[in-house]
Amino acid sequence: MEKTINMQINMDAGAPVMEPQRQFYYMDLAKNLIKEREKAYGRKLTAHVETFGCQMNARDSEKLRGILDTIGYVQVDTEEADFVIYNTCTVRENANNKVYGRLGTLGNYKKKNPEMMIALCGCMMQEAHVVDRLKKDYRFVNLIFGTHNIFKFAELVVRALTEKQLVVDIWEDTTQIVEDLPIERKYSFKSGVNIMFGCNNFCSYCIVPYVRGRERSREPKDIIREIERLVADGVVEVMLLGQNVNSYGKNLDQPMTFAELLREIEKIDGLERIRFMTSHPKDLSDELIEVMAQSKKICKHMHLPLQSGSSRILKKMNRHYNKEQYLTLVDKLRAAIPDIAITTDIIVGFPGETKEDFLETLDVVRKVRYDSAFTFIYSKRSGTPAAEMEDQVPEEEVKENFDILLKEVQQIAAEKAKALEGAVLPVLVEQVNEHDSTLLTGRLSNNSVVHFSCTADQESGTNSHADESLIGKIVDVKLAECKGFYYLGELCR
Ligand code: SAH
Ligand code: SF4
Ligand code: F3S
Repeated sequence: MEKTINMQINMDAGAPVMEPQRQFYYMDLAKNLIKEREKAYGRKLTAHVETFGCQMNARDSEKLRGILDTIGYVQVDTEEADFVIYNTCTVRENANNKVYGRLGTLGNYKKKNPEMMIALCGCMMQEAHVVDRLKKDYRFVNLIFGTHNIFKFAELVVRALTEKQLVVDIWEDTTQIVEDLPIERKYSFKSGVNIMFGCNNFCSYCIVPYVRGRERSREPKDIIREIERLVADGVVEVMLLGQNVNSYGKNLDQPMTFAELLREIEKIDGLERIRFMTSHPKDLSDELIEVMAQSKKICKHMHLPLQSGSSRILKKMNRHYNKEQYLTLVDKLRAAIPDIAITTDIIVGFPGETKEDFLETLDVVRKVRYDSAFTFIYSKRSGTPAAEMEDQVPEEEVKENFDILLKEVQQIAAEKAKALEGAVLPVLVEQVNEHDSTLLTGRLSNNSVVHFSCTADQESGTNSHADESLIGKIVDVKLAECKGFYYLGELCR
């Protein structure tokens, strides 16, 4: 998939300086190294990529798989493989701990297969204390690299396969964006598409700007070309990815707004659904709302992280909006796009958060009535301004507020979902249901999950396997029953 770029590389001339040619050179070298190992083992070599964290990381993992595939590894679902790479996240402490925990198991696999290669990359690796700990306590690791030089993966694999010692390559930041490397998509019919990298917002609790670097947008022509290729390869839905898509294009030589980019993407024939995340409320423009309202392809879903409903806390969070401005934005969205689903992220227990502050958050939740919300307990990230703030909230109080919030959010989400019961709506079919092979599973434009039967089977009274030919197609489904946060439905033929 997407491995259409066929670079002619003269292996005798040494490594090219230019990218991506340089990486294709190293892919060819790696292929030969893998072939030699295959001969020695008398079998194919296997690889496993494990993703922690957000959709940005998931997309990066597809890039890693694209390279591993190209150089001859067979992807497997188990971590008992010849090459295992963890693409890590460090947004909260528990994301971090998970990685250390699981590395222990990998170490045991390596005792059984001493030639096994273990690599670590992603956001956690941008933190010096992490790399120091890995070097000291996890000496079986072969390769460590960060977020800024992931495009160099082929080159780093060659080094790790040939050098007998740990290879570490971490960059502080980069302005470079390398296009046209191979990518192995998880789904044939939908895909993430990076439109920008990094973040300049420095919300005071957040580690992302430190581990993902400064904001840089891809050229619109590169984005459009990527989506056109994806569509030619069967993709009908794209998710445009950026930490703050609403500030897209500001640093381009020829600046362009996110709304303008969406207008261009809308024109791509064959593309049926456009999603994006994440939108920072401070940069959500009227122009974007207008484009969404007019669009036939942009999904009626806005993920609009609130973080806190207290203007006092929002200020300390460095979010650049207050409670009233947020609520006004929601009103504007609903006025322009009445059936829009609004989802959010909320942090409970930010330093200095009082009961009154928490009640403000609860108030916003009740006013907005989110279709769903991710709720997080504040996690102290060293290096961020919030980590230095006094009056960190006691754990007991945070837990109590968190439970109240979660209950409220879930109840509202269930009520909202119930309102669509009985409706017939388009569903993008994603897969055969994981637990019941007579059902298909897909998503509504508002991102809700629907499990549905194909009525033809019901008529004949047999419970046969679901119609897999519908995967990747958009079909009308009657949402017969709401089950809280998902639906059971029937295909309308
Ligand atoms: N760029 C996106 C989201 C990035 S991280 C945005 O601005 O919304 C995803 C979510 O993780 C954030 O929205 C926030 O709710 C949560 N998060 C980030 N840092 C956190 C921290 N230190 N503790 C708890 N949750 C955090
Ligand atoms: Fe983190 Fe804020 Fe940037 Fe989102 S916008 S990634 S929360 S700093
Ligand atoms: Fe985690 Fe990095 Fe995403 S810290 S949330 S994987 S940008």
